[in-house]
Amino acid sequence: MSQFWKPGTERPRLIDDEEGGVLFYSTSPLSSSSSGYGFASVEKQRQRLPVYKYRTAILYLVETHATAIIVGETGSGKTTQIPQFLKEAGWAEGGRIIACTQPRRLAVQSVASRVAEEMGVKLGEEVGYTIRFEDVTNTDLTKIKFLTDGVLLREMMDDPLLSKYSVIMVDEAHERSLSTDILLGLLKKIQRRRPELRLIISSATIEAKKISSFFSPSKRRQALLTEDHGPNAEPAILSVEGRGFNVEIFYVEDPVPDYLQAAVSTVLSIHDQEAMGDILVFLTGQDDIDAAVQLLSEESRNGQNQGLIILPLYSGLPRAEQDLVFSPTPRGKRKVVVSTNIAETSLTLEVIRWQKKGIVYVVDSGFSKQRFYNPITDIESLIVAPISKASARQRAGRAGRVRPGKCYRLYTEEYFLKEMSAEGIPEIQRSNLVSSVIQDPMISKTILASNQYGCSEEVITIAALLSMQSIWISARGTEKELDEVKLRFAAAEGDHVTFLNVYKGFIQSNKSSKWCHKNFINYNAMKKALEVREQLRRIAQRLGIVLKSCEGDIQVVRKAIAAGFFANACRLEPYSYNGMYKTVRTSQEVYVHPSSVLFRVNPKWVIYNSLVSTDRQYMRNVISIDPSWLREAAPHFYQHQQPNPIAH
Ligand code: CDP
Ligand code: MG
Repeated sequence: MSQFWKPGTERPRLIDDEEGGVLFYSTSPLSSSSSGYGFASVEKQRQRLPVYKYRTAILYLVETHATAIIVGETGSGKTTQIPQFLKEAGWAEGGRIIACTQPRRLAVQSVASRVAEEMGVKLGEEVGYTIRFEDVTNTDLTKIKFLTDGVLLREMMDDPLLSKYSVIMVDEAHERSLSTDILLGLLKKIQRRRPELRLIISSATIEAKKISSFFSPSKRRQALLTEDHGPNAEPAILSVEGRGFNVEIFYVEDPVPDYLQAAVSTVLSIHDQEAMGDILVFLTGQDDIDAAVQLLSEESRNGQNQGLIILPLYSGLPRAEQDLVFSPTPRGKRKVVVSTNIAETSLTLEVIRWQKKGIVYVVDSGFSKQRFYNPITDIESLIVAPISKASARQRAGRAGRVRPGKCYRLYTEEYFLKEMSAEGIPEIQRSNLVSSVIQDPMISKTILASNQYGCSEEVITIAALLSMQSIWISARGTEKELDEVKLRFAAAEGDHVTFLNVYKGFIQSNKSSKWCHKNFINYNAMKKALEVREQLRRIAQRLGIVLKSCEGDIQVVRKAIAAGFFANACRLEPYSYNGMYKTVRTSQEVYVHPSSVLFRVNPKWVIYNSLVSTDRQYMRNVISIDPSWLREAAPHFYQHQQPNPIAH
């Protein structure tokens, strides 16, 4: 039990100090406020966005500077408005295109359709988008194109100078996603060859200085540049004033021993003491979110905390449950959404709209799940780690969308000031770069090999299903049923072949959503997989691959997979009693993931599709192989090392 303090005041008791209560004190507000708004015409809405006032300034900077960095908080109109300003100013004339990149595909689709709507044009014509496996643009008509930074990187392979673009806006640069960082590095190089190209880098946090110094030319180059009359090579920074309301920040007085318990009691206290308004709680992942939802639901069932609607939010949540989160809160009720980082940056239209409706309170655990790469063991893992100051500000900012809000940080002010890093560690420093450097090499190799083995149809199906996060619906309390259902499709050879069975069933059911529902299969994922499959077929055909089915000869499918994924081969430890495997490449200990059909089956030799790391390193999507195929597939790789099938 601890106490809440508000510095400089007479210690107002903000939250009851009952058993288990967490005590906070408040500091200065986060940002200053301006007006709210109601319904208005599209043009009126556009004019009310903070960037509108900076239209001339933005266009002037783009005209005169090679690189413009534009800072403004989420919702100020950077993504949807700036490309339109550029188009209106003529940057898309003469067949040139304005590009705007996003780190996430969902965002690409949603902003593209929003911009098309604002401009009153059909999506895919003047305004289009491209994400992996989906190109909604028109070569003759498209003037504004939204795309993931990954797709732009890929375009560079065909057109290294990205010559069709007049302006490239790299959006959400503060996220420092892996592809964004690689892209910025390459764009800097392109700029030297194409002085007429303009870059706009937009960011929601003020950490723009680093980016600016990255784009500053060296002194020597600066001297050379001033001789011609091109744009100023020194980047310009413009800050667009925000529109948020005050968010009062509260810190815990003493460090909390258990952020989950602390989050739960903070929510209950807010409900007890504060005016109506929804609560958004930031935890780290499905496990702690489910636990918190359970605890809160138990509490609200025992009478005192009625009126709470408690909902989880994480990616991979079934659509119906997500919709509950975004539906309006009934009068007299208070919604509590326990979420991962996906609510931190506005992800989808629904998130944006919902945040505008009702979040008044934010509870921030101070942690998130982050990807880390260990170059020595060659393993990427997701681990719970402290967030950065920038991230903490973003989280707090979610509270001030509709009216002044409050953010309860489950860490001390001292910790925030002295120990939290200013920004997160950029993804580029904590990821395995292989897949970015050689885009999807293993799958490509598998598809090429399938040509030789006469099983391209099957391999393409597998590749499409593997590209989905999961095709299964996993909901709390249904794990057992899911396991049973999986047995209907399970193939002794492993998960890849199981995917083929699922796909077959889906096609035989006439792509029925009912069938999916009955079999705990995610209908939307299957529909998406069909689209991806179509794309892959077209790509394969272009590469001269003959589309052919092996008609049930699964051995050749496994051989093709071994040919592509030989670097992911693992061998069961001899005499292993707990199913421990070692990777052939680095002798790392790995285990078959419990979600795999090969869990507890443990064939001697397997190949995995990816590794996930929780308490152990787990192999996801595993297939059994014959070790002799490895040497066949990659003689250079396996010449002097394992496998030695005779010894085992
Ligand atoms: O990029 P930034 O976060 O600065 O703002 P934006 O994405 O351009 O959004 C500006 C406004 O457009 C938002 O506040 C929403 O009202 C609206 N918007 C929308 O309705 N649908 C979207 N997909 C994106 C934005
Ligand atoms: Mg944006």
